[in-house]
Amino acid sequence: MPISISEIVSLTEEWVDEAGEVLADAFHDYPLTRYLFEGSGARYHVELRSSFRLDCLYRVELGWPFLGALADGKLVGVALVVGLNRSPEDTALHKMESSLLASFGAQTATRLREYGDMKARHKPRRRHMYLESIGVLAGHRGEGHAGRLLRRVHQISETTPRSAGVGLDTQLPGNLPLYQHFGYEVTDETSMGNVPVWFMFRPNQERPGDAGAAGAGRQPLPPRLPRRRPRPSRATGSAGRAKRIPDSAFKRKLLKGRPPAPAGPPRARPIVLPQSDNSNPISVF
Ligand SMILES: CC(C)(COP(=O)(O)OP(=O)(O)OC[C@H]1O[C@@H](n2cnc3c(N)ncnc32)[C@H](O)[C@@H]1OP(=O)(O)O)[C@@H](O)C(=O)NCCC(=O)NCCS
Repeated sequence: MPISISEIVSLTEEWVDEAGEVLADAFHDYPLTRYLFEGSGARYHVELRSSFRLDCLYRVELGWPFLGALADGKLVGVALVVGLNRSPEDTALHKMESSLLASFGAQTATRLREYGDMKARHKPRRRHMYLESIGVLAGHRGEGHAGRLLRRVHQISETTPRSAGVGLDTQLPGNLPLYQHFGYEVTDETSMGNVPVWFMFRPNQERPGDAGAAGAGRQPLPPRLPRRRPRPSRATGSAGRAKRIPDSAFKRKLLKGRPPAPAGPPRARPIVLPQSDNSNPISVF
């Protein structure tokens, strides 16, 4: 089958469900998500998807880069970036986060919190953007989609005056040469459970034509896509939501697909994650 060259676009709220599914599919067998959501059992994929949905909604709310690779109109890859302009505490979503975490169960909530703390300890001291997640559907890998998404992330960092570059962490040794190809260097190394974690940083590059900035030029964020009809969700068949949904609807959106809460002893108190500057606290990547 011929390979389609993807177009990199800024995604909007209408794409949150689809982007959450693409990321959950891309990270389904990823070592760190397996470790973080180990306690989720049969709900692994549903909870992973809810977590990525929240990450996507944060981008919409905060105006942080929320990028998609569209190949023949199909979303095949997604990149989520932590920006510099606002913090998660500014949003109503922040209040929802603890309920979502509590619904995941104590072990998953604790591991997500530990992962957030670890990132805060290891991230570069200079102000930077952070590539929280990048994932491409398994059937579309090796077609250059991640490369195009990465180049766009680098352009955004290079046109953001206060950003010194782009940081990330990865847990697969096979990803290291890929990121090194784009100019990232390992800055630190640690582990979570028995999962290795490498922190990498790519300083902004001034000269167009550098490995990571090839063809970059100076460009602003890609244009927002025109509004599209909501796509029925695979999980529930319900349609995507439009703008400014009230808190209760946000909760339903995040938790959709969950069965009704079983009758029984009261649930554990919500676990509130500590906040750190320049970091999305619940984000799995
Ligand atoms: C990692 C992942 C995003 C890569 O996506 P992809 O679309 O297959 O990657 P691409 O085809 O765009 O390849 C990326 C670039 O890296 C290069 N590359 C890939 N493997 C490489 C290697 N071992 N050494 C050097 N360069 C490599 C490619 O040549 C390409 O560069 P180019 O654009 O200059 O040609 C994808 O495999 C994925 O989703 N994996 C699961 C989730 C994951 O691991 N995410 C990253 C978490 S940190």
